[in-house]
Amino acid sequence: MGTEPGMTRASITVELLAVGLCFVMPGGCRAASTPNETGYYSLLAQINAGNVQDLGFAWEFKTGTYRGMEATPVVADGVLYTSGPWGAVYALDAVSGALTWRFDPHSDGQVARYSNVDVANRGVALARGKLYVSALDCRTYALDTRTGATLWEVATAEGPTYACSGAPLVAGRVLIVGNSGGDTGRGGLRGYVSAYDLETGVLKWRFYTVPKRGDEHPTPEMKAAESTWDPERDPAYGGGGTVWDGMSYDPELNRVFIGTGNAAPYLSARHAAGRTLDRLYTASIVALDAASGRMAWYYQTTAGDIWDYDADAKLVLADLSIDGRTRKALLQANKNGYFYVLDRVTGHPLSAQPFSYINWSEGMTARFRPIIRKDADYSNQPILIYPGPQGAHSWAPMSFDPHTGLVYIPTLEVPNLIVNLKTNPGATVKYVDGGTGPGFATPDRDYRPEDVSPLFGALPNVPDRRPDGQPRIQAMLKAWDPVHQKTVWQQQTSEGYFVLEGGALSTAGNLVFAGRGDGQFVAYAADTGKVLKTLDTGTATMAAPMTYEIDGTQYVAVMQGHGGSVMYSYQGTAAMKYMNEGRILVLKLGGSAVPLPPPRPQEPYRQPPPQVGTAAQIAAGRALFSTWCSKCHTLGVPAVTPDLTRLNRGIGSVDMFKAIVLGGALAPLGMARFDDVLSPANADELHTFLVDQAWHAYDEQQKRVGPDSR
Ligand code: HEC
Repeated sequence: MGTEPGMTRASITVELLAVGLCFVMPGGCRAASTPNETGYYSLLAQINAGNVQDLGFAWEFKTGTYRGMEATPVVADGVLYTSGPWGAVYALDAVSGALTWRFDPHSDGQVARYSNVDVANRGVALARGKLYVSALDCRTYALDTRTGATLWEVATAEGPTYACSGAPLVAGRVLIVGNSGGDTGRGGLRGYVSAYDLETGVLKWRFYTVPKRGDEHPTPEMKAAESTWDPERDPAYGGGGTVWDGMSYDPELNRVFIGTGNAAPYLSARHAAGRTLDRLYTASIVALDAASGRMAWYYQTTAGDIWDYDADAKLVLADLSIDGRTRKALLQANKNGYFYVLDRVTGHPLSAQPFSYINWSEGMTARFRPIIRKDADYSNQPILIYPGPQGAHSWAPMSFDPHTGLVYIPTLEVPNLIVNLKTNPGATVKYVDGGTGPGFATPDRDYRPEDVSPLFGALPNVPDRRPDGQPRIQAMLKAWDPVHQKTVWQQQTSEGYFVLEGGALSTAGNLVFAGRGDGQFVAYAADTGKVLKTLDTGTATMAAPMTYEIDGTQYVAVMQGHGGSVMYSYQGTAAMKYMNEGRILVLKLGGSAVPLPPPRPQEPYRQPPPQVGTAAQIAAGRALFSTWCSKCHTLGVPAVTPDLTRLNRGIGSVDMFKAIVLGGALAPLGMARFDDVLSPANADELHTFLVDQAWHAYDEQQKRVGPDSR
């Protein structure tokens, strides 16, 4: 691709990165460490809008896992590297798909309880013959790219309730590692990023995102932040602000950009005196000097956040021509529904416009502080909020195409009912630190208030359509113009259920590639959004694709497998129909049809064990299930984790149940132990409730099959 007049210098850099996946430096070419550095854009154009019709199957690698896949592979020297559940790493021959080596970090299974995203991993980083990955238990590894042997390993968590799902980031001489768990430990953890020497793994610096109450030697950054917190807060509370995804690096400025998560607990943003507390540097974009770890600037995206509007979505570097001036920009499609263009030198916001339907804010002040609508406060009554806590756009990569000038955003227009469990009349689920904070209920196609009210208390009916006539729940791929701050085209990707749709890749072939939850893998025209090719793959995609060229053939690679947040439910995805085995799918021109996975067997309910508990135990068990289990387990809907109405599957006995739930018998598989928060009597209540649910499901089935079998 030639340089068009008016194209900015840095967008040329973006291109060069994309072509060879390398930084062009005075001393030569250094490999780009992650696809984020290229803005999920590639200059490859062998596959283009004119021939993408011929796109087909090249090879696949099945991982033998059945959990969510969120990573984008990287390719170097003919080898494709990527990561899967728990932080396992796969190194494959990029032409044949043959396994070169595999690395299993043997992550601590208990940590699954502190992750909100299944046991997913969002990728590896690559630099100078070393490959870096963080396992779910927050041990970070440097591996030999040729053999997979561990060169160094370091524990990056400061406590047992941190979990790690994000890709590490190479920034100059250091590796930046974040973590998660802001809402899962008691009162939330204290968020931070660590910088390790690339060669040795020695800790160079650590930047905390929130101040510690009573800190006697605060840095200037923490001193400034302290004044935005409640001085009387419980010192045991970590405060949150975890950096669990979106980080990027600008080699020219030698700066690291991080996005921070929500503060915890949420509602304490409303200070007793009625004043809103900003609680810096939560829900913020922060620039750090890569050499020293000192803060260069910050911009808080959601001041006084009580809705879980993390600023952790990917941060993309782009140089934009705005009002005749070239600006070194940093782009983010935030969970809160605003698209931010910041000056990445000064941190000054250049624009902030909603790219999605929102009802929590009604605009920005002149100083770019969001104006919060009065009815967005759920302290005293449940509210229907857009976007929901899963955000209008979260970790799923967006792609910036310097040729069209557009950003392609996998967008979720999914609301949530947020309930203050402390105040809602009739709520039986207790507000538990590290368990249930506020209650969140997604009013999907099957929502009936009477189903949820026994738990959360009185809930409103929700109309099928939003006030603007659009469906209540939908997901879209949007092409957003960051300069003119408007949607140029959009395509609906799902409707009715909360489905995590795949991230995006754009290429110089005037193409955008993005997979969908329903198993379709789609190529769109980058300029118009026209669907040019749809491949039925039978497996849900959440991750973003990448592309590479070897020996004159261009390939498109994507990781597939449903999971992630959302209770891991299969509803609305290809996993309802097909087995959800994880795979790396690779496509090329002239390839064959994509092989479909085997169909998922429809198992009938077997007769559950006899019901022994009381109605009061069942009710108590229901509330406990909502507090501790529903984050991962479904009832009556197939999911990544077992549907627990099928309690009869080998665990009919309450002793076995207790061995699993209290004793951690399945902890290595991600079914953590709960004996720190649940008593044996609680386990009995849970078991009683689940047996009751199993009987309901079984009776329903017998009613359905009854007439036929007679
Ligand atoms: C962090 C996610 C997570 C949470 C929270 C969780 N589970 Fe699990 N659970 C799992 C996974 C994963 C499995 C499947 C393990 C395997 O592969 O066998 C499982 C399996 C089980 C099983 C065995 C089911 C079977 O027949 O195979 C039971 C029983 C169970 N969980 C009960 C509970 C209860 C009760 C709670 C709440 C106190 C709970 N779980 C909370 C992830 C979770």
